[in-house]
Amino acid sequence: MAEVKKIAVISGDGIGPEVIAEAQKVLTKTEEVFGYKFETEHGLFGGIAIDEKGTPLPQETLDICKKADAVLLGAVGGPKWDNNPKETRPETGLLGIRKALGLFSNIRPAVIFDCLKDASTLKPEVLDGTDLIVVRELTGGIYFGEKFRRETANGQEAVDTCVYNVNEVERIARQGFEIARTRRKKLTSVDKANVLETSRLWRETVIRVAADYPDVELDHVLVDNCAMQLLRRPSSFDVIVTENMFGDILSDEAAMLTGSIGMLSSASLGEGSFGLYEPVHGSAPDIAGQGIANPIATILSVALMFRLTFGYHDAAAAIERAVKEVLDAGHRTGDIAVDKSKAIGTTAMGDLIVAAIRK
Ligand code: NAI
Ligand code: MG
Repeated sequence: MAEVKKIAVISGDGIGPEVIAEAQKVLTKTEEVFGYKFETEHGLFGGIAIDEKGTPLPQETLDICKKADAVLLGAVGGPKWDNNPKETRPETGLLGIRKALGLFSNIRPAVIFDCLKDASTLKPEVLDGTDLIVVRELTGGIYFGEKFRRETANGQEAVDTCVYNVNEVERIARQGFEIARTRRKKLTSVDKANVLETSRLWRETVIRVAADYPDVELDHVLVDNCAMQLLRRPSSFDVIVTENMFGDILSDEAAMLTGSIGMLSSASLGEGSFGLYEPVHGSAPDIAGQGIANPIATILSVALMFRLTFGYHDAAAAIERAVKEVLDAGHRTGDIAVDKSKAIGTTAMGDLIVAAIRK
């Protein structure tokens, strides 16, 4: 009998509950097909939590997450709460949950589905074989360093400082190597070591950590060159590991290779196997309640959870294969449909994918 895995499920706002419902069907089907066991517990978070509990991140929800092996999150936010004071805005909950759970890395896969190549702005032959993951450091670097302004003889001056310590670099480097190990065993570390001292520490540390991963091929690429290579030969990358600001920019660039926000999954990881999994997209208030949201980003987030937190590679592959099969058969939600009149809804898409999951 498989060990029971506890998953905290947070539906959130807007299309969150709609796409999470489809992901839950996928969990149930995986139990049936592979014999795994999941116990889910729901928590209020975001706008709905503000309405019902007066805070975006109630303590009960945090407790549910802390007891769990992984968190599955829909999306939060919407116009209703946009003008609230900071402490009762949904985004404050998002930053709070990442901090409270110690999630220091953000992981975004960019996978090209052959049949969706027309959704990308790049030529199909450039995209061929693209399947990469960006691992971004999330809690250090210039976004968190000391910042201030001062008056000088030349007028006002603004200062942002970029700070990394060796432990912060080491833990994210290890995560990059560990993920590369589960894939094509190629890690590209991105820095600006020709100019930045933090990048020199970054590179030294990555090289030292590499000694523990002789099975993973490591190379170092300067960030400006990486930005070019992502557009020129994206298929040459497997796992990219980089610091906070470089990762912010490169992960958005990589996301655009694939064309559609309704397809992109993400993970936020901390020490150990615990992780929070969510679609890259937001709560899409413009289409909420209409049953037309694409559930694939959330379903692929479940596959990512199986790979990175549970090590259920067989079930992850089955989900990814099912998504590909359904897309190959021509089924499309509105966001990825060329002929919008033939688009199917959220539940229809979820049902087709669930039906295609098998050993
Ligand atoms: P969004 O990602 O919610 O929507 C952008 C556009 O993409 C919209 O036209 C939407 O209809 C479409 N879209 C998004 N996901 C889709 C899906 N699964 N299927 C089909 N179409 C989809 O970003 P936006 O509009 O900037 O933000 C809306 C709200 O979501 C805001 O309150 C924002 O703060 C919040 N948000 C929350 C995030 C999270 O929970 N992690 C991330 C990004 C935004
Ligand atoms: Mg960004």
